[in-house]
This record gives sequence, structure tokens and C-alpha cells, in this order.
Amino acid sequence: MYLERLKLDGRRALVTGGASGIGLACVEALAEMGAKVVIADLSEAAIESARGTMREKGYACEGRVMDVTHSARVTQVADELGTIDILVNNAGIARSETAAETVEDEHWLNVIDVNLNGTFWCARAFGRHMLAAGRGSVVNVGSMSGFIVNRPQGQSYYNASKAAVHQLTRSLAAEWADRGVRVNAVAPTYIRTPLNEFADKQGEMYRRWIDSTPMARLGEVEEVASVVAFLASDAASLMTGSIVLADGGYTCW
Ligand code: NAI
Repeated sequence: MYLERLKLDGRRALVTGGASGIGLACVEALAEMGAKVVIADLSEAAIESARGTMREKGYACEGRVMDVTHSARVTQVADELGTIDILVNNAGIARSETAAETVEDEHWLNVIDVNLNGTFWCARAFGRHMLAAGRGSVVNVGSMSGFIVNRPQGQSYYNASKAAVHQLTRSLAAEWADRGVRVNAVAPTYIRTPLNEFADKQGEMYRRWIDSTPMARLGEVEEVASVVAFLASDAASLMTGSIVLADGGYTCW
């Protein structure tokens, strides 16, 4: 019975930013658990490459070019696909290492636009169909940066965007809880993906990240994807509005 509740057979899922990093791992996790997955990302080429990777592993995925900041396009894709059972709002950017006093308007607006506005446009558009069907699970990819302030790098805009994603998660969860739609988030520590490549592995910043983490390491994409897949499944049927830390203990210190 317990294993059964983790299965996603017959479910349709869409992962934003699904062509790379954590998103691609989520695609694989959901597919392995039985879901039919749509990979949504910025470019046809990136999507095709991700679909090829999944095909080699035995999973046939659909793809959609969808910039999450374009709300009209998001709505168009949601309406075209109809009911999606699982939405993973993973698309995000960091643009770390800029002190608050030097942040340009464009920089602030861009990060908020992708991380916060994009999450809302997708939740709203796909959520409408879930509410109409009376079932669905939204999993947002937040960050430990929504709880703590990373150091030493400045990234006020990113931290603010992820704290907002967490509170949006709780707000949508409360609004939709009695209509069959659950909304949760995962809040990861530093994960080994292209997003973190700005940090020199031999450098001082990287050393401070490791020293600040009780597990003394970065996380792997699979370690986030497994939490996402769990939250998406019926095994998490009582969970809504939860922000689940997957942080190697970072926030304990
Ligand atoms: P990544 O850079 O490897 O992948 C991000 C994906 O999102 C890329 O495929 C990119 O093309 C896509 N994307 C970017 N902007 C988009 C847009 N406007 N519309 C659609 N797709 C877009 O990054 P990573 O590390 O896999 O990050 C995924 C999520 O995890 C982000 O929300 C990030 O903030 C979050 N996260 C990452 C952590 C890390 O240390 N890597 C830690 C905590 C959270």
C-alpha cells in the first residue's frame, strides 16, 4: 500500500526549466515513478537534448518551449495541454554575487520575474485546470535562501524571490486545499548544477559554503528530485503548504 502511494502511473506532469539541472532530474524521477512528463524550457534545442537523454533511459517525454515570464504563453500551453496532474515550478535563475547597493533595476526585475512571477503565472494557469478537475499537486522549487541569508556572496534579489515563493506556496495551498489541489515546496541547499558554476571549487566562497553545511558537501540533483517526486505523489496526501528543506543541515547552524 505504501509503495503504491508513491506511484504516478496515469498522471501527467509538467516541469518548468526541465531541460537542465534539478528540473531534468525531476523529469526523470517523475517518469520513473510512472508519470508522463512534459519538459518545458526556453529553447527547442535544450528540450530536444533533454528528451534525448530521457529517451535513452526509456522514457518518452513531450516538450514545450515556454518562457515562464510570458504569462500569455504559459496560459496558452496550459490550455492546450488540458489537465496536468503535477506541476513542478522549477525554472529559476540566481545571478548571484552582486551587492545590494550596486544591483541595477534590470537585474532585480529579471530575477523576480523568473523566480516569482513565473512561478505564479504557471501555478495560476495550470492550477485553473487542476481546480476544475478537483485534483492536482503543485511543487515549487524554493530555496534555503528563502530562510537564511547566504554568505559571502550578495544575492538579496534571489533571497527575496525565494522567500516570496515560499509564502506564495502557503497562500495557494490555503486557497486550494479544500478543492483537491495541494501546493508544496522544496527548499534545497547548494546543489551541483550549472547555476552554481560561478563559484570556483578551490576558492574561498566555495570553502565557506562547505564549512557552513553540517554534511560538509553540496547536494546532488537526485536528492532534490526525490523530494519533489514524493511531494507530488499521494504519499504526501496530507501535505499542503509545506516548505521541505533539503539542505544537508545548513539551516541548523
Ligand atoms: P539550472 O540553471 O541548471 O537550470 C535552470 C533551468 O531553468 C534551465 O534549463 C533554464 O533554461 C531554465 N529557465 C531559466 N529561465 C527560464 C524561464 N524564464 N522560463 C523557462 N525556463 C527557464 O538551475 P538549477 O540549479 O537546476 O535550478 C533549478 C531551480 O532550483 C531554480 O529555481 C533554482 O533557484 C533552484 N535552486 C537551485 C539551487 C542550486 O544550488 N543549484 C539551490 C536552491 C534552489
